[in-house]
Amino acid sequence: MTAEPNLLAEGDIEALIKLDERCFPGEPFASSWWLKAAQQRGANAWVLQQGAELVGYALFSRVLDEAELLRIAVAPEARRQGLGALLLQHAEQALLAAGTVQLYLEVRASNTPAQALYQAQGWQLSGRRADYYPAETGREDALLFSLCRGSVD
Ligand SMILES: CC(C)(COP(=O)(O)OP(=O)(O)OC[C@H]1O[C@@H](n2cnc3c(N)ncnc32)[C@H](O)[C@@H]1OP(=O)(O)O)[C@@H](O)C(=O)NCCC(=O)NCCS
Repeated sequence: MTAEPNLLAEGDIEALIKLDERCFPGEPFASSWWLKAAQQRGANAWVLQQGAELVGYALFSRVLDEAELLRIAVAPEARRQGLGALLLQHAEQALLAAGTVQLYLEVRASNTPAQALYQAQGWQLSGRRADYYPAETGREDALLFSLCRGSVD
């Protein structure tokens, strides 16, 4: 059974690192990132459990009234069940409640599942950075998405 997302706690980090390695082979975040996120005041990382398993996570970085989605993932066997959307909506609500007005993210141009998720959640394509990411052959563009839920002066 899927619960609501929870704020990342230090006790989640071991399972989170294993999931991150599965979801981003060859490019997992360092454990120090997760530890810092778990210890931060005004935390901005969430995890999702299904039974005893950690099946998803989302990590944002927040500065003043802006937040950037750094990473979101759902375990391969748990995808297309609405869990990515659940994580994103939960994080968005928590960030807005904490005073965030503008959310943004960068995503590989080839990552069509993630782009479909963001668009389904109301994020708008707002730009492109050419050759931003290293790719298997050469480099690939980043697409920029943003979500504005408040008034930006
Ligand atoms: C991107 C990711 C988090 C989506 O998680 P998910 O739990 O499968 O997404 P959801 O089930 O909540 O999908 C919600 C909607 O997004 C869209 N979507 C998600 N995955 C899709 C796919 N593979 N193809 C097309 N549309 C997709 C659909 O509109 C979907 O709604 P639907 O299932 O009713 O059609 C997941 O594919 C993943 O972990 N990918 C690897 C990590 C990654 O690339 N993260 C993003 C960059 S940081």
